[in-house]
Amino acid sequence: MHITVLLDEVITSLKPCAGGRYLDVTVGGGGHSEGLLAESGPNGVVLGTDADASAIARSTERLAAFGSRVILRQVWMDQVPALAHQLGFVSLDGIVADLGLSSNQLADDKRGFSFMREGPLDMRFDASQGVSAADLINQSDTESLVELLQKYGEVDRARRVAEAIWKARPLTTTVQLRDVLSGIAKSRGRIHPATQVFQALRIAVNEELRRLSDSLPGLVDLLSPGGRLAVISFHSLEDRIVKRAFRDMSTAEDDQPGFGQPKVGYKPTCVLVNRKPIEPSEAEVAGNPRARSAKLRVIERIL
Ligand SMILES: C[S@@+](CC[C@H](N)C(=O)[O-])C[C@H]1O[C@@H](n2cnc3c(N)ncnc32)[C@H](O)[C@@H]1O
Repeated sequence: MHITVLLDEVITSLKPCAGGRYLDVTVGGGGHSEGLLAESGPNGVVLGTDADASAIARSTERLAAFGSRVILRQVWMDQVPALAHQLGFVSLDGIVADLGLSSNQLADDKRGFSFMREGPLDMRFDASQGVSAADLINQSDTESLVELLQKYGEVDRARRVAEAIWKARPLTTTVQLRDVLSGIAKSRGRIHPATQVFQALRIAVNEELRRLSDSLPGLVDLLSPGGRLAVISFHSLEDRIVKRAFRDMSTAEDDQPGFGQPKVGYKPTCVLVNRKPIEPSEAEVAGNPRARSAKLRVIERIL
């Protein structure tokens, strides 16, 4: 069962109220949506979206008691602004994105997200379309693998790892890949060498970083003035994208370090609610180690 991360902090940041309209673009197990619905009663509405059909099924069950106050749709994050416009679900009071994968996905052997479980090397959030991790590995040349491992996993000695993977192809299961990696990659402290490689593949298979940066401006456009967007990231690659996009939308300064030139004719549409990201308390991390790397950034639309 997935434990929702930074729930109180998201609720405090978005300040849900009766009659409000909220969007949860990573509905997952439904935890943040449930909090938003509970706090925006009796008539607040939540549109919950996720690329994963099983997340939509799970949330449908969990949120059933809220009846017509919940709308759930299977859709990628970068396609949510278009969907929201189609549904007339605009002028929103708050939006939450809780990035990455859920414990429910990690625990499902058939999805191939975990190197601790034997399963097909799949890793697609939307299992009905796109290229699986196995296909990606088996069809890539070494150079593309090196680039993918460096860019999305910051993998040490990426060339050596890529060459070992390439030689062992075709790989079809999680355990086959883990065994290749156990033989060559170095552990980072207590972190298994497969951790970074599995992260890199998952990010590539789901185009997570591209979708994140493509979606942020469109999501902010859905907010009404005073509405807020809260994003929880779990690693520096995601956090960097969120930090940059939020800075671009909230400052009239050029973002080149050392320049600080005003952007001509540019009016910021947002303000940062918190300059430093909000991190989980020690108590939260003790109860849910998965929360340890979470960072919450919040922006408020002003124009
Ligand atoms: C960390 S879980 C969300 C958990 C949820 N907030 C809860 O409390 O139960 C992240 C969810 O986002 C989905 N997801 C991640 N990246 C996505 C993207 N680019 N587009 C759509 N869904 C995405 C995953 O399928 C997963 O279900």
